[in-house]
Amino acid sequence: MTEQKTVYLADYQPFSHIVDSVDLTFRLAPAATRVIARLALRPNPERPGRNDLRLDGEGLTHLSCTVDGQPVTPQIEGHSLTLAAKDLPDGPFTLDTEVEIAPDANTALEGLYMSNGMYCTQCEAEGFRKITWYPDRPDVMSRFKVRIEADLPILLSNGNPTAQGKGWAEWDDPWPKPAYLFALVAGDLRAHSADFTTASGRKVALNIWVRPGDEDRCAYAMDSLIRSMRWDEQVYGREYDLDVFNIVAVDDFNMGAMENKGLNIFNSRYVLASPETATDDDYARIEAIIAHEYFHNWTGNRITCRDWFQLCLKEGLTVFRDQSFSGDMRGEAVQRIKDVRVLRARQFAEDAGPLAHPVRPASFMKIENFYTATIYEKGAEIIRMLKTLLGAEAFRKGMDLYFERWDGHATTVEAFIDCFAEASGRDLSGFFGWYEQAGTPRLNVSSVYDAAAAALDITLTQETAPTTGQPEKRPLPIPVAIGLLDDSGAELRATEVVVLDEARRTVRWTGVEREP
Ligand code: SER
Ligand code: ZN
Repeated sequence: MTEQKTVYLADYQPFSHIVDSVDLTFRLAPAATRVIARLALRPNPERPGRNDLRLDGEGLTHLSCTVDGQPVTPQIEGHSLTLAAKDLPDGPFTLDTEVEIAPDANTALEGLYMSNGMYCTQCEAEGFRKITWYPDRPDVMSRFKVRIEADLPILLSNGNPTAQGKGWAEWDDPWPKPAYLFALVAGDLRAHSADFTTASGRKVALNIWVRPGDEDRCAYAMDSLIRSMRWDEQVYGREYDLDVFNIVAVDDFNMGAMENKGLNIFNSRYVLASPETATDDDYARIEAIIAHEYFHNWTGNRITCRDWFQLCLKEGLTVFRDQSFSGDMRGEAVQRIKDVRVLRARQFAEDAGPLAHPVRPASFMKIENFYTATIYEKGAEIIRMLKTLLGAEAFRKGMDLYFERWDGHATTVEAFIDCFAEASGRDLSGFFGWYEQAGTPRLNVSSVYDAAAAALDITLTQETAPTTGQPEKRPLPIPVAIGLLDDSGAELRATEVVVLDEARRTVRWTGVEREP
């Protein structure tokens, strides 16, 4: 058994080096795939002094390693390869490594593995280290070029295709990305294709890749993709940024789907549908997941997480975006009821049990265990509250500022919230408690009508039960939308947002002529 250490948010340090570019060559073979990696590295100015270079790797058969073409002997221990600072140039240098891996023996489905004769990858959160030596952490963003060699008809990776011949293909992704967004697919696949022209006129080739025979079950996924692309332009002003967008349906997949840059990989049940067998719910799920992964292109990929503690930065926000999209497509009220039912069934239960954790945890042992309803669904509710609190216009201004300021970077939840504080001129320091405190607040509302004074007193209280490791709870700012109706259903007072940011608050409304 390997020993698991606890990782703490407070221990964050930038990586020792900058990776300016990555060139990967894959010679695919089921039992012995050769991975040749060339990294252009230089010391990170944010980490002064001379630092060792420590790369992650798991289950790799190490073959060779050179620095600027000279063979070196790294220290390989546990799950890392280390080159001592004294053996490394003080400026830019090139690191070449060669390893061998066995995709057909990979049953964890993390890294490069095989599914029905097809090669595919899953790298989030820490699967890339099972492919090659690399700083496998989301704040190391780099430009990837990939060459795939295999005797298979379809060879795919991230970015744009640059060249291909019989048995090989080359891809270039111009957008810097962390390793968890790397993807490779190779196999005998067929495409359901369409195209899309972005608002500014870029023509994008869209393909959904499936096993031969499944091509006619992709129409709804493709239609959902096109609507998602248009919606993100209209609602958030975000356009797609490559010449191709590929989706691959895979039968063996750990997660629902994965937002790899330009090459989304899906569990096939969230892509394939035909009217003969799919239910209305199946269609709604396909639409939501296609949208979710597409929306990650901006909230997750162009702007990513500094470390895995910030997982909700991309997931909570992207769930909120896909919920809003589904609401626009299918009716807001019905969608909202659906989302709240999921929240109550899954997240409230999590929050009420021994596994309760904050939306932005402060420590973890295995990040894989944090892909939870709290980080996804409660993370989305926090964004929704933020929008309720600030109003749609200030919310959009905050999002615009976030995209402008952090594009191309790996960042934090604090930096995200700062954009909304700045755009709205509001103090959101109390709001941040939503990310740090676990548990479901219980809100109580009571009212007393004073006919003589034509006044209504509304008292709001909140209370959160203790959770594991957090015995004391503080009140959090809860925006409560309140409107008044009379007994015939006529509106006595239009809905307005009252913020409860203490344990108890009473609001007096005057000029209420009839008892609400
Ligand atoms: N990052 C993936 C997603 O949420 C993992 O499931 O889309
Ligand atoms: Zn996601």
